[in-house]
Amino acid sequence: MCGIVGVLGTHEAAPILVEALKRLEYRGYDSAGIATVNGGRLDRRRAVGKLVNLSDRLVHDPLPGKAGIGHTRWATHGEPNEKNAHPHRSGPVAVVHNGIIENFRDLRARLAAQGHYPETDTDTEAVAMLARHHLESGLTPVAAARATLAQLEGAFALAFLFDGEEDLMIAARKGSPLAIGHGDGEMYLGSDAIALAPMTDRITYLEEGDWAVITRAGAQIFDAQNRQTSREMRQIRMDAARIDKAGFKHFMAKEIAEQPTVLADALGAYLEGDTIRLPGQGVDFSRIERLTLVACGTAFYACLTAKYWFEQLARLPVEVDIASEFRYREPPVLPGTTAVFVSQSGETADTLAALRFCKGRADRILSVVNVETSSIARESDLALPIHAGVEIGVASTKAFTCQLNVLLLLAIEAAVARGHMSVQDRATLLTQIRGLPGLFNAALDRDASIEAAAQKISEARDVLFLGRGTMYPLALEGALKLKEISYIHAEAYASGELKHGPIALIDKTVPVIVMAPHDALFDKTVSNMQEVMARGGKVCLITDATGAAEAGEGVWQVITLPEVDSRLAPLLYALPAQLLAYHAAVAKGTDVDQPRNLAKSVTVE
Ligand code: AGP
Repeated sequence: MCGIVGVLGTHEAAPILVEALKRLEYRGYDSAGIATVNGGRLDRRRAVGKLVNLSDRLVHDPLPGKAGIGHTRWATHGEPNEKNAHPHRSGPVAVVHNGIIENFRDLRARLAAQGHYPETDTDTEAVAMLARHHLESGLTPVAAARATLAQLEGAFALAFLFDGEEDLMIAARKGSPLAIGHGDGEMYLGSDAIALAPMTDRITYLEEGDWAVITRAGAQIFDAQNRQTSREMRQIRMDAARIDKAGFKHFMAKEIAEQPTVLADALGAYLEGDTIRLPGQGVDFSRIERLTLVACGTAFYACLTAKYWFEQLARLPVEVDIASEFRYREPPVLPGTTAVFVSQSGETADTLAALRFCKGRADRILSVVNVETSSIARESDLALPIHAGVEIGVASTKAFTCQLNVLLLLAIEAAVARGHMSVQDRATLLTQIRGLPGLFNAALDRDASIEAAAQKISEARDVLFLGRGTMYPLALEGALKLKEISYIHAEAYASGELKHGPIALIDKTVPVIVMAPHDALFDKTVSNMQEVMARGGKVCLITDATGAAEAGEGVWQVITLPEVDSRLAPLLYALPAQLLAYHAAVAKGTDVDQPRNLAKSVTVE
């Protein structure tokens, strides 16, 4: 939800920190700030709003120093303003934090009883105040940080910097990711490896409960029981070139356009002739009695789609849960259950918490992730990478279709293992799946007609999405895309459900996006569409040539996609939904890559 960075360098820290924060802005951008130690003196600069405001501030009010920490914020406690911007400071201590300190009010009360009073509305300030209190009671900076960490409850990735300490950073990780970067005579800290890519590809990920004493000579890592430990240093292949817009106006546009390529990459990783090659020991679906799929947001809609595939193709019962609800409904996880967690970032707190709930309950924990070094990947029995490449746009696009791709391959494997699909039928279906990148390219050629429809939709206040079967979760995803980047209110319904109430919303001001390939459910969906048109509703029909010929007459807007096997339609029909949202947002002038109030990785519950 926020991004933190740190550097103990041999050059000025400020530009390094700002460059690293640019790569973390996807995690939140309500405010930003840095602190450095220069000539033994701790100082900071902060600015509300986007990182560019901090950069401007630093031009007019530079901050020297070769040791520093930085932060880009998604507000949890305290409104976005400069006062509440990190780094937070209390006397000789500065702190940056990603997460939530759940006992900060209790800590504040205890500190107030000793005459220490907060100046901000944030939970994080209590951490700096506590460390200061321990320093003033005579502890060294390292001991003060250690004592502070022992008193914190909640989730945190933290970095401490101390007045007078030009070669010391303390880092700690509990519930929020944190990576240490190894340079030559320099050391770095970041919420993820992307932030550190320009400086190093040698990364050590802190484990849950770890804390570290970092100097330019290296890092001493201690586990949750304060025992010195070592963690693997990995060489992270970070294609820094892919962390730019490559000529597109927005990362989202680039990532939508990348889908044919990354899908082909993913298929190359998973398909071997007419068979599917799963990583590690694979998955023996013959021994699985049921699946539980758990995720948030767009990843949840991928799971809803996969439920249709597993149940229709493999006759395998599937439960699907929103991660933030899953634990609290106390589901009976029965023997024979495999739990699958889907997450682009692999750091979503709700999904990670649900995974931990299933440990010891489910027979096996699988994850479908984009970041293979993420917490969810590392805490799974088997992580299945989606190979989408770095996704910077806050609105998930290529990750969604790549999640669907892996889930579909798993459903096919389940179908064969459970005797509901022959290897010949699998071979035929895999041949069609290999053709998907080409169909995506053909669908991208429809961009002009999608943009034209989006221009009209961008004028609406409310929009409905309808779909049947696997097009229902696609309608949900389309509604999410539109609302999260254009701020237009959008809702999705199973098209058969419209007549049970929501049809009351229909009038000529409400565009209705109907997602309907010409499949077995097409006629029923067309009936629902006509119920809308009979009441003056403006329908935008997304279908194929056959569907357009049968039902396109008199429809307000028709977007025609290439014909596709109905089992593969969810992947292809995601694309027009993404482009509709994108062009509507551009028409409205919203911030497509960093929509208001959002963050790419939600690492707080
Ligand atoms: C997707 O467009 C949203 N930004 C959001 O719903 C996202 O899918 C959700 O937060 C889950 O993130 P994850 O896949 O990284 O777990």
